[in-house]
Amino acid sequence: MTTTIIIGAFWGDEGKGKIISYIAYHEHPAIIARGGVGTNAGHTVVYQGKKYGLRMIPSGFTSEKSRLLIGAGVLVDPEIFLREVELTGCKDRIGVDFQAGIIEKEHKEKDQHDKHLSKKIGSTGTGCGPANEARARRTLRLAKEIPELTPYLTDVSKEINEAIAAGKNVLLEGTQGTMLSLFHGTYPYVTSKDVSASQICADVGIGPTKVDEVIAVFKAFMTRVGEGPMPGTLSEEEMKKKGWMEFGTVTGRARRAAPIDFEIARKAVRLNGATQIALTKLDIVFPEVANATKKEELSPAALEFIANIERETNIPVTLIGTGPDAEAIIDLREDKL
Ligand code: GTP
Ligand code: IMP
Ligand code: MG
Repeated sequence: MTTTIIIGAFWGDEGKGKIISYIAYHEHPAIIARGGVGTNAGHTVVYQGKKYGLRMIPSGFTSEKSRLLIGAGVLVDPEIFLREVELTGCKDRIGVDFQAGIIEKEHKEKDQHDKHLSKKIGSTGTGCGPANEARARRTLRLAKEIPELTPYLTDVSKEINEAIAAGKNVLLEGTQGTMLSLFHGTYPYVTSKDVSASQICADVGIGPTKVDEVIAVFKAFMTRVGEGPMPGTLSEEEMKKKGWMEFGTVTGRARRAAPIDFEIARKAVRLNGATQIALTKLDIVFPEVANATKKEELSPAALEFIANIERETNIPVTLIGTGPDAEAIIDLREDKL
């Protein structure tokens, strides 16, 4: 019985969607709850041969037996929420906290037209920044005021704490990445809230003493979309040569890429109290490991790459992504959920 938090170590898009959906599908936690900012997140989940680009619904929807929840700290865009509920067919098992904030049209317009947000920061234009601004002013409307959300309303904190007390497994999903944290990231080029594991606890309403494991998701290289620094950023030519080109799930913008920087990696482990690392896209850096499902199938160079991450961060790499397919993964965890 564990409460596990999954967070991104870098600037988001580490492949959390795939790691979360893999764990969810195989271990069926009683509750899968989403923390994080809001619809600025984009997670790609491949399930039963179909590719889902999700912005609201927990990536763990692939576990059909799990209760899905969205915490009070998460911003809800009702239109996107209702669309994704239909798309994923999770109507009967999803709940939204009464006190989740609501993204309105005016927030999206401001996010897209405000020069500072859209140009200087390179925001996603999804209205999250202006909605959190309104929340801080205490003028933002909450989920309990929106008739379309009535069937979904619940006390997320109470549900999760009761599940933990009953000895059930709980999986908490973070979004974005640690370096986008409003407090600890590359300010001002960050998102509108903290996004570390502690914030994910606050988002869903559990205390830090309830958490057993924090899995930090690392991609085998770092990427960043939007403005702001990233040490070791490669030129477009170098990125193409390495095959590290990526495009954003929400905005379609090209991402910048860089090799893993271990100062940043250690900072992410520290800020989140991470206990394990899930490493994705190892096959992009080492094509010979594509679709491996056992550590024995990895090449010496790939094994050394992993050993180096473990030496540098001092925590184990327990999940290794070796391809886009949901089952292209090496699972070295001793204790599953
Ligand atoms: P998060 O925001 O952290 O959830 O990541 P993301 O889902 O935004 O990342 P992105 O939109 O770039 O999608 C990741 C893509 O990479 C999806 O199509 C995944 O199926 C795929 N993917 C995930 N893990 C691996 C991996 O280990 N190897 C490869 N080749 N592809 C992967
Ligand atoms: P905002 O969160 O839309 O205000 O955007 C602020 C910054 O965070 C921009 O650089 C965005 O590109 C970045 N950002 C926000 N959410 C994500 C995410 O889920 N993945 C990657 N970058 C993100
Ligand atoms: Mg993403």
